[in-house]
Amino acid sequence: MHVLSVFGTRPEAIKMAPLVAAIGAEPDLTSTLCITGQHREMLSQAMDLFGLSADHDLNVMRPGQTLNELSARLITGMDLVLRNVQPDCVLVHGDTTTAAACALAAFHLRIPVGHVEAGLRSGNMLAPFPEEMNRRAVDVMSQWMFAPTPAARQALELENLSGRIWVTGNTVIDALGAALAKIDSSPALSSMLAERYTWLDPRRRVVLVTGHRRENFGDGFRQICAALRALAQRDDVQLVYPVHLNPSVRSVVLEMLQGLPNVHLLDPVGYLDFIWLMRRAHLILTDSGGVQEEAPFMGKPVLVMRDVTERPEAVAAGTAQLVGTDAARIIQAANRLLDDDTAYRDVSGRANPYGDGRACRRIVDALCGRPVAEFMAPASPLRTASLSSLDLA
Ligand code: UD1
Ligand code: UDP
Repeated sequence: MHVLSVFGTRPEAIKMAPLVAAIGAEPDLTSTLCITGQHREMLSQAMDLFGLSADHDLNVMRPGQTLNELSARLITGMDLVLRNVQPDCVLVHGDTTTAAACALAAFHLRIPVGHVEAGLRSGNMLAPFPEEMNRRAVDVMSQWMFAPTPAARQALELENLSGRIWVTGNTVIDALGAALAKIDSSPALSSMLAERYTWLDPRRRVVLVTGHRRENFGDGFRQICAALRALAQRDDVQLVYPVHLNPSVRSVVLEMLQGLPNVHLLDPVGYLDFIWLMRRAHLILTDSGGVQEEAPFMGKPVLVMRDVTERPEAVAAGTAQLVGTDAARIIQAANRLLDDDTAYRDVSGRANPYGDGRACRRIVDALCGRPVAEFMAPASPLRTASLSSLDLA
């Protein structure tokens, strides 16, 4: 079978790279990689880590483009590639505009679609926006659905979709395992990473921050930045914030946080750097999907600056806490974990609800028609988690 894999954004590159490498190494599969270029600067390190180079590049990135301009470029570009390559299957990942538009382009040409990270649901079409709609649409079009967790499978089963489902674990844990092994097996790499951050004050605990969700643009980001300003006044912490390249994020963050003592604003850092920073961090504040999955594996507590999450497993495990975007609430939750060692210890144990590092193997086996021993996660009582209510499965 000839598999065409597509990705275009940073999280897709990190989560698809180990899978594309595994497909490339499988004698029963032929692999073609198309990158869309929805993101450009943020892809290369994940691709380098797995020795990937793209066979096709749609080059769709334009500064500040609208979702409709982006979708139009993606569908037109993908149509041409699919007509030339004529794959037996197109694999897309997650919930980005790259995933939704490329799945639609394949569907229009009657090429079967496989969805990696299928079945995540917040239950709210506007949060995350437009991702909740994107992932639902991709699942409707998919013949193969690779659900990361049993809860994701359950969500798919409730929708009576026509595709087949496997619970595989999330490929992010495969990527994270490979990246950690690379760092830990190379003293030269470890010291190079440490050298880059010698400016960190050893006496202050690191609070690592990321944020980029569209539904938080405007007041949400202002509230988040107000909370960060307040936390930066503590004399025992330093904030490290690699700022996403989206201008709607950068403008507010730079305006409200640039130049403050104890606040280190960075450009987005490469994947190995980010993992190094996660390890160094005492606490993580984020609205990212991938970081919510990685932090429990690293044993780091996470405050999730969103009102609802489609990744309830870490909330159920206790390592993630939903705090929304209200400044007072973020400050209170962060101060509690910074001041109360018992509360911190309660939520900083290693949990592993998202994968066991064998997700790519399972997906390759499923594509080859072999039996798959599915991923067994610890049981989660939650299907989604929101600030207003916890939705019981
Ligand atoms: C996108 C995804 C989101 C994912 C996130 C991961 C959509 C709608 N959103 O959000 O699901 O969580 O990526 O990071 O698919 N830009 C650059 N260089 C880059 C990346 C972005 O300059 O490498 C700027 C450009 O001005 C671009 C803008 O950011 O137009 C927005 O980028 P876009 O990919 O549309 O959305 P993200 O907010 O990055
Ligand atoms: N990440 C990175 N560099 C950074 C910030 C994040 O490599 O400066 C990684 C992080 O480890 C995770 C992924 O990017 O694997 C998450 O991407 P993002 O937050 O952009 O998207 P989301 O997961 O929310 O879709």
